[in-house]
Amino acid sequence: MQRTANISELRKIIEEEKKLGRAVALVPTMGYLHRGHLTLIENAKKTGAFVVVSIFVNPLQFGPNEDYARYPRDLERDARLIEEVGVDLLFQPTVEEMYPHPMVTFVEVSQLDKVLCGANRPGHFRGVTTVVSKLFHIVQPDLAFFGQKDYQQYLIIRRMVSDLNLPIEVRGVPIVREEDGLALSSRNVFLSPDQRQEALILSQSLREAETLIQKGERSARGIEDFVRNKITQESQGVIDYIEVRNADDLSDVVEIKGPVLIALAVKFGPTRLIDNKVVEVEPDV
Ligand code: PAJ
Repeated sequence: MQRTANISELRKIIEEEKKLGRAVALVPTMGYLHRGHLTLIENAKKTGAFVVVSIFVNPLQFGPNEDYARYPRDLERDARLIEEVGVDLLFQPTVEEMYPHPMVTFVEVSQLDKVLCGANRPGHFRGVTTVVSKLFHIVQPDLAFFGQKDYQQYLIIRRMVSDLNLPIEVRGVPIVREEDGLALSSRNVFLSPDQRQEALILSQSLREAETLIQKGERSARGIEDFVRNKITQESQGVIDYIEVRNADDLSDVVEIKGPVLIALAVKFGPTRLIDNKVVEVEPDV
């Protein structure tokens, strides 16, 4: 596996691969890799493309009171893990390499960035879309892989690529979970054993909400209330949001008709976890 922290060196390597006619696939990450990230990488490998993994904890997407400083990092462990999966190139820039001077140029996907995680994390998605745009320009991938664990991020990136005519195919990868249902996240390491146990309520309530919809429940507020009640009654989690939205464009839903996203963010102590489920609904005949 090749490794570089340097943008011009990376460009040279990519240029050589492109000359050989090889497609390039990018998997952007913030590191502290787990099986969720590795599944994205395996999907990228399967395409036969030259696989680039970026590891960069992007300060631009963290709010002033968020966990940028304490975000978990272990670059050498990450490098070993991805070498084993057969990644071709690791891009591990420093903050100075990515942001040599204060940024005044940003990429913003409006509207979609104001709801769900965007409502309580102002500037977060602007930080994501700006860094992902930079990575797209630096790496010039043909394909890019994103996890549906961050469903809103995935939709926002798709929309950015479409609105700006970027010649990149964005592929979404379903959520990877622990055996007991907890969605894998780099932040799970911050949970105490009790919180880790309580956090199972998230995936459980999403599964039960899905069953309710499959059995005929069509009220979006009804589903939200069900999930909210379950989480508040059975855990000490502090709810940031629980929302049922249109799974294609995140618009408001009152009566569930097409595919919906049930998305939630809940804090256990200082650790904020997100999870979601997309539920397909057969249109009434
Ligand atoms: P990070 O949280 O490291 O996630 C990197 C990628 O892994 C994202 O596309 C995310 O959705 C995916 N991922 C994380 N946990 C997953 C799981 N349990 N199942 C499936 N996919 C999962 O998301 C970011 O980094 C950053 O915002 C980034 C896009 C790199 C921009 O800085």
